[in-house]
Amino acid sequence: MSEKRKNFLDLAQWSRQNLDEVLALATELKADPGKFSQSLAGKSLAMIFKKSSTRTRVSFEVGMFQLGGQAIFMSSAHTQVGRGEPLEDTARVLSRYVNGIMIRTYEHAEVEILARYATVPVINGLTDFLHPCQVLTDIFTIKERLGELPAGLKVAYIGDGNNMANSWINAALQFGLDLKIAVPSGYEPDAILLERTRQQARPGGKVTVGDDPLAAARAAQVLNTDVWASMGQEEEAEFRRQAFAGFQINDALLEAAAPEALVLHCLPAHRGEEITAEVFERFQDLIFTQAENRLHVQKALLVTLLAD
Ligand code: CP
Ligand code: NVA
Repeated sequence: MSEKRKNFLDLAQWSRQNLDEVLALATELKADPGKFSQSLAGKSLAMIFKKSSTRTRVSFEVGMFQLGGQAIFMSSAHTQVGRGEPLEDTARVLSRYVNGIMIRTYEHAEVEILARYATVPVINGLTDFLHPCQVLTDIFTIKERLGELPAGLKVAYIGDGNNMANSWINAALQFGLDLKIAVPSGYEPDAILLERTRQQARPGGKVTVGDDPLAAARAAQVLNTDVWASMGQEEEAEFRRQAFAGFQINDALLEAAAPEALVLHCLPAHRGEEITAEVFERFQDLIFTQAENRLHVQKALLVTLLAD
């Protein structure tokens, strides 16, 4: 790696070159899953989960195993983290045992506190604000399918201005995407990220936010969505079902999109809400490849951050 980085908290904090290096390494690891099989021998990754997970947990755990190391699952329900032990202390304790820490939590500030106090690399496995491992994987998946990641690639994001939307804005900044976001009024993504991308995006990169899914989907080469109610918003789910009606990837949006448009979903999916069952099944191979790619991309991140 040309510029050693300690943590992976936010796509915007890495250089484009470093991100490209991780994507290239992920391609090598996907072609040969046994590559670097001893690169993390004797190393451990602690994984703190304050929220549920299937993909993130299993892909990091399998990834560490395939690289010769081990992962330690720490549910907040069964560790002192859930009883209020400060993250400042948890970070310093874990740093005496393990070689890296992955955390999935609510407030993004918690990830930053962990990173400030840990002396080992910290990886953001999702916060209310960002989901960088997922969106880096989505970029990998698009590149793999299209054979390249052209500047100005037209990407539509339909749904909630949540952690996925925010990370897509960071991806637009880094990879020069033409990102059109459609959200119901009042559910816009983070204004500061939008402003930064408007000012600093690479050639081709721009982000627009509106409330018309069809307009966002027009000529899009990639259509992308996520759940209407994220983890932690369970009590709002019924209200959100009404607020988000129509913010769905369906046949009408696909007709408006470019021919051969790709449909991505980070999963879990709610058929009949943010995506129809028919469209989901038509793109299921791509969507489950996207899920698989979490493993390859995160192995590349782990080698980059944890290997000697
Ligand atoms: N996409 C994703 O992060 O899935 P999990 O919540 O299952 O980890
Ligand atoms: N926005 C979703 C993403 C799940 C991977 C959530 O935070 O629940």
